[in-house]
Amino acid sequence: MTGTGKITVIGLGAMGAAIAGALLAKGFHVTVWNRTPEKAALLVQRGAVLASEPAAAIVASPVTIVCVSDYDTATKILDMTGVPATLKGRTLILLSAGTPNDARSLDAWVHAEEGHCLHGGIAAWPRQIGTAEAMITASGDKAVFDQQRSVLEALAGTVHFAGEGPGTAATLTTAAMAYLAGNWIGFCYGALICEKEGLKVDEFGQLMEGFTPMLAAEVRHMGEVIQHNRFSDPESTINTTGLDLRLLLQHTREAGLHTALPELAADIFNKAIAAGYGKEEHAAIIKILRKQDS
Ligand SMILES: NC(=O)c1ccc[n+]([C@@H]2O[C@H](COP(=O)([O-])OP(=O)(O)OC[C@H]3O[C@@H](n4cnc5c(N)ncnc54)[C@H](OP(=O)(O)O)[C@@H]3O)[C@@H](O)[C@H]2O)c1
Repeated sequence: MTGTGKITVIGLGAMGAAIAGALLAKGFHVTVWNRTPEKAALLVQRGAVLASEPAAAIVASPVTIVCVSDYDTATKILDMTGVPATLKGRTLILLSAGTPNDARSLDAWVHAEEGHCLHGGIAAWPRQIGTAEAMITASGDKAVFDQQRSVLEALAGTVHFAGEGPGTAATLTTAAMAYLAGNWIGFCYGALICEKEGLKVDEFGQLMEGFTPMLAAEVRHMGEVIQHNRFSDPESTINTTGLDLRLLLQHTREAGLHTALPELAADIFNKAIAAGYGKEEHAAIIKILRKQDS
């Protein structure tokens, strides 16, 4: 994808700098602004124009990507002197972390200033931006998404339109964070177990890489099972997985390791067994999690 348009990037941290760099590489005319202007030096050498303030940056292009720490930060920048008046008729693409409420609130504010707004979540590390490995999930006005699709496709090989709700992309990104939190913490528990037994953690990482096809199939399967309430045809039951998790808890106790995650996991599965779901698919633990006092 080669771009010929003008685009502004606000925020030049690890991700914002990667975004600006990918757009330059693909031929866009890029204007940048960052609170710490020194971070723009390499991009300026490559042809980016450094604006002195956010209002000047936004005026330079019809489209501005805002990639700062979070929506609170984005809101503070967009509320700086002179900025609201620049938004009329322009499009903002928010690629900053936030809750669904954050996205809905900023969206309403931008629309009140007669601007357009898209909200996106990035599933990629900065080094993957501009490659086929990156994915962006966006939501907001479909007509605006269609107009800006080429910009998003310059950044990510997979661009997914999640719907017109301004909070939808943030909802999916937040849901993904719940999944990732389990992965990150779970990996470190696995690393603790390996360390304690004198095994190498990098070899454990390679082993887990081999689980990738199984996990890819698993997430799709769990989504379908939960969406369609099909818990009664299991390949792996709550009884089976519950025993595995009790053994995990037993081992972490015997080894003198941190036990919070194994305790939580065993507790949820034990509750599911006590509630009569033992012979069901392990995704049926959602029936326990749906109860707020679970
Ligand atoms: N890095 C990743 O792997 C990754 C992956 C997916 C999504 N993301 C998302 O991308 C967004 C940016 O992440 P990042 O990795 O680029 O973070 P980062 O390296 O910490 O950069 C943060 C950016 O926010 C700016 N900022 C923070 N507080 C500010 C304030 N009060 N006023 C003005 N600017 C402020 C920083 O400006 P200064 O340079 O002046 O500090 C910098 O441009 C986040 O929402 C993150 O969730 C990141």
